[in-house]
Amino acid sequence: YSQSTGHDLPVEELRLPADLAWGVATAAYQIEGGAAQDGKGKSVWDTYSHLEPSRTNGQHADVACDHYNRMPEDVELIASLGAEVYRFSISWARVIPLGGRDDPVNEAGLAFYSDLIDRLVARGIEPVVTLYHWDTPQALYDRYGGPLDTAEFRADFASYARLCFDRFGGPNRVRRWVTFNEPYITSIFAHLNGTLAPGHCREANTDTKTEPWRVGHSLLLAHADAVLLYARDFQPANGGDVSIVLNGHFYEPFNAADPADVAAAERRMVFYIGWFADPVFLGSDYPAEMRAYLGARLPQFTAEDRDILRRAAPLNGFYGMNHYSTKYARQLKTPAADDDWTSNIEELSVDSEGREIGPSSAMGWLRVAPEGFRKLLCWVWRRYRVPIIITENGCPCVGEDDVATAVDDTFRRRYLGVYLDAISRAIHEDEVVVKGYYVWSLMDNYEWSAGYGPRYGIVHVDFKTLKRTPKNSAFYLRDTFKRRRGVS
Ligand code: BG6
Repeated sequence: YSQSTGHDLPVEELRLPADLAWGVATAAYQIEGGAAQDGKGKSVWDTYSHLEPSRTNGQHADVACDHYNRMPEDVELIASLGAEVYRFSISWARVIPLGGRDDPVNEAGLAFYSDLIDRLVARGIEPVVTLYHWDTPQALYDRYGGPLDTAEFRADFASYARLCFDRFGGPNRVRRWVTFNEPYITSIFAHLNGTLAPGHCREANTDTKTEPWRVGHSLLLAHADAVLLYARDFQPANGGDVSIVLNGHFYEPFNAADPADVAAAERRMVFYIGWFADPVFLGSDYPAEMRAYLGARLPQFTAEDRDILRRAAPLNGFYGMNHYSTKYARQLKTPAADDDWTSNIEELSVDSEGREIGPSSAMGWLRVAPEGFRKLLCWVWRRYRVPIIITENGCPCVGEDDVATAVDDTFRRRYLGVYLDAISRAIHEDEVVVKGYYVWSLMDNYEWSAGYGPRYGIVHVDFKTLKRTPKNSAFYLRDTFKRRRGVS
């Protein structure tokens, strides 16, 4: 498997069911631009990307893809690709500039999303809306630390969610909602490693031993509140559902003959996925393994919280899965550090016999390993039994700045082909229920701390002229999904 060799799956061989909805995904901060237009407030990302250039490859997303000003053109682009779903996120600070429950709403911001939704619906494209893709309003972070204060954050998020359900929901408008995108990333990368906004752990007086878990706790409970709110006040009239999007690698043991590595691979997934998915989908406490290892670092659920989680769990309509890659897990015999929260598991791309987990993409961590995807689908289905929607899957390729090179994205097309094949096998051979596949991403965009370096789009964006040009992978997906109708 490389740019020039390896297998290329003929689309006819992909047995994709007719009811597997295909879509394209984006996130507000990564594409919108219009950073200060029409009364938008600042999010932690607006601040962070201007703070120290070294944190974000010297780049910010004040303009990004300028989607805020080119939205009608982008809806036509999505329609031209034949996508059935468009997953996007709402910028909280665009609709409530200061974010709080008593703060004024911004009608211009609300009108932007309303227009987007109307245009999608008119084109027969289903909007799937994420309420929070990492962009906490800066004012809430300044007031109380955002998700660091569980009670305040829950109250403000509930009010924001109600506003969105109210203004954008409806039997013929938004019917499928995601509360949080990848709470693991917000908790660990933004509050432990500090490589994503707000980079809080770089500031004075922070406690990285407890804060990441407190942040995760807030997101979980704010999620459950929103699920119950939707079920009580909106679902009866609107139908539809709400859930959460969780990312996760699949982990293979570094040495399959070593029981410690086999156990480590399983435990790593529990610490990554079960951390959120157990309370959300099972309505239970955090996984016992995490409690045993982290002790008092992991917050406790009150009796009232436990009740909320229990009632919300069966109401989650789907499991939103973001998946990109697989890694090897190795149990360290000597602890790496006394506060290593992963229970001393090292993550690698090469196993004990020197075998690579898969070919490398433009991002070192992202390897092409479709078998791991199939195994992850099985793992999640067996543990939670909730229909799965792949809310993100995709691949960055090297050398795509130049449009002439970018359009011939054979590496990405093959990646998508073998990952779709993994889904097809999971559905047909392992009886996993998968209901949707949304590619990351509709177009090249601002890749957080990596700036405009890696390009994940199936559409190329020239960041000087902002011209959009579909790559071959876009046509591959369009044709593949067109053909699957009636093929199931
Ligand atoms: C997901 C995010 O984690 O992966 C996206 O939801 C992001 O917003 C994508 O762009 C790619 O991740 P990375 O690690 O390459 O920036």
